[in-house]
Amino acid sequence: GKGEKGEYIEVDENEKLPNSEQRKWEQEQIKSAFFKFGAKDAKAQDEYELLLDEQIDFIQALQLEGNQEKKDEEKISEYQKARLTIEETKKSLPVFPFRDALIEAIRNYQILIVEGETGSGKTTQIPQYLHEAGFTDDGKKIGCTQPRRVAAMSVAARVAQEMNVKLGNEVGYSIRFEDCTSDRTVIKYMTDGTLHREFLSEPDLASYSVMIIDEAHERTLHTDILFGLVKDITRFRPDLKLLISSATLDAEKFSTFFDDAPIFRIPGRRFPVNIYYTKAPEADYIDACVVTVLQIHATQPLGDILVFLTGQEEIETCVEMLQERTKRIGKKLKELIILPVYANLPTDMQAKIFEPTPEGARKVVLATNIAETSLTIDNIIYVIDPGFAKQNNFNSKTGMESLMVVPISKASANQRAGRAGRVAAGKCFRLYTAWAYKHELEDNTVPEIQRINLGNAVLTLKALGINDLIHFDFLDPPPHETLVLALEQLYALGALNHHGELTKAGRRMAEFPTDPMLAKMLLASEKYKCSEEIVSIAAMLSVNSSVFYRPKDKIIHADTARKNFFHRHGDHLTIMNVYNQWADSDYSVQWCYENFIQYRSMKRARDVREQLVGLMERVEIDMVSSISDDTNIRKAITAGYFYHIAKFSKGGHYKTVKHNQTVMIHPNSALFEELPRWVIYHELVFTSKEFMRQVTEIESKWLLEVAPHYYKSKELEDSTNKKMPKTVGKSANNF
Ligand code: CDP
Ligand code: MG
Repeated sequence: GKGEKGEYIEVDENEKLPNSEQRKWEQEQIKSAFFKFGAKDAKAQDEYELLLDEQIDFIQALQLEGNQEKKDEEKISEYQKARLTIEETKKSLPVFPFRDALIEAIRNYQILIVEGETGSGKTTQIPQYLHEAGFTDDGKKIGCTQPRRVAAMSVAARVAQEMNVKLGNEVGYSIRFEDCTSDRTVIKYMTDGTLHREFLSEPDLASYSVMIIDEAHERTLHTDILFGLVKDITRFRPDLKLLISSATLDAEKFSTFFDDAPIFRIPGRRFPVNIYYTKAPEADYIDACVVTVLQIHATQPLGDILVFLTGQEEIETCVEMLQERTKRIGKKLKELIILPVYANLPTDMQAKIFEPTPEGARKVVLATNIAETSLTIDNIIYVIDPGFAKQNNFNSKTGMESLMVVPISKASANQRAGRAGRVAAGKCFRLYTAWAYKHELEDNTVPEIQRINLGNAVLTLKALGINDLIHFDFLDPPPHETLVLALEQLYALGALNHHGELTKAGRRMAEFPTDPMLAKMLLASEKYKCSEEIVSIAAMLSVNSSVFYRPKDKIIHADTARKNFFHRHGDHLTIMNVYNQWADSDYSVQWCYENFIQYRSMKRARDVREQLVGLMERVEIDMVSSISDDTNIRKAITAGYFYHIAKFSKGGHYKTVKHNQTVMIHPNSALFEELPRWVIYHELVFTSKEFMRQVTEIESKWLLEVAPHYYKSKELEDSTNKKMPKTVGKSANNF
């Protein structure tokens, strides 16, 4: 029958893949050999190996039968062969026929809402059209915001290539801790967070002639706040053109918010996409993804595959599993090119995902939801959607923030499926049941502003002189209690006084493009005379991927190498050790290789550190070292993160001090087997349990020193620092 809104054809359960029997069998196998990462016992491992062998047999059998739909394959490979020139590609995009009409509309209206399907050319083409039409002739720039850094970088690279200029000259990008623009830049891509911060130095955006708030439908916190800020500016800068660009159906809502601005719709082109659901929920969706990829590869006509996963770790696991299995299958199958895409992907790897697939090969792209609308990868015919995404969630009752994997919304699921139908009819494999889609998924994703901590946003708004946040022009206002909590937190950190006004410390904190707690930690390093160390720790914390490299075939070596860096007081000092030793090696690649450290992450940490040192200079904090006294370093950390304190309770569990929530030390932590009485953590990550990541031992009496207005000594009773028995905790390794 027809799917939602008649857009998709929903396929009868029994007409799934040609080999639905096989697939059913496999799913049962997967369930029986169910295991989770990091906790494979020997038996599960054996079963799993067995499963692998059988599966490979089955795939080879299929291959020998030549179960291929030849005609379709020829059609798609023709498309692949027709390597369009850049000029031809530009002309082939859906936005191209509307070039003149669009420019006309922009000339006629100050604010325009642009709506068009993902991949129609909004992000890459419209700024070029505007540049060609003379919108930069007066020396002003065209700005375009992106919610994600990878998108900002890769789109800028693409546009520079299309315009045949060097990236960073006429076309550039600016993201947190990295500015790749110059005086000559006329088209500037940036993250929404970067523009938010630019308001601090240029409140009227005087250097821009056009501002495009792109991917508006993503509704990130920064984008939502920008809506209010840019709307305000258009009132006193009649010469500034404002474009709000969106992929989905929110256009009317944006139009209403922007005083009934006209909507310019770019008609989309989309081929039908068949949707397949699993019959039963998947026990392990990573494994199910791998199986589905191989199955498509073995049985379906050529055409690239896009898999949606929730984060870097999952993606890397999946890459490894696919590499391992394709290796075992050998030459019987066509080449499968496996490519990851996630937020911290190094630049050289980013370019690879856009390279055309070689003839006769198939590409599989494993992406976070960045590929949902922000990035368009051509030639995708198959989409695999496990139905999850990582989301930052803030509990305004407890004031706790944590990153968790949550089910996506129907709107997201449909965007994902749509990625399969750009160049030809496609297929989308949903690794959840049709019932779950209909009954369990929400219609839309809740905008970030209504579900995350507003500390950083409120601090920046205060620094912009916007004092009355309750009456700020929000598209959708945040919950009242979230705003109040943010104000309270900033007050506790000393950024606001009891009138809610920015203090001197608050002004200095606002200089840092970071969470207020991290900013406070950086400021506190002045008092504790350890700015060198704290800046290194902050830089390492900002590289939010793990710096420790753990290849499957060398896990024991890698873990030993990691343990060599462990500091007895915990992870902050451990990552500081890593940074310092790397610096001592003269930032050597070889050193990273020998110590199982990710060179790329370290390189980024070094860049971030350099930026932070510059900012420290701006707030006039001298760089001094206190390497011999780690108490000072830990006190500075505590001065920033005193919200994140947990106290040992029992059975390997901790309780957060203010809200009595049960949390555990992450198994990767240096303190996993130590279990000190009082700890401070950097963040909470929810997987099977609420885990604290980056944990350091502290003394509770420090809390009275660094946050006397927040902690009462009564809460901190029992502040001995004796260690807990070591027997507990080991069994907690089943996350
Ligand atoms: O913004 P919208 O989703 O409407 O489309 P776009 O991002 O401007 O993409 C238009 C075309 O540019 C697509 O065919 C992309 O594949 C291509 N593109 C690319 O080749 N490399 C990039 N880094 C970004 C886009
Ligand atoms: Mg776009």
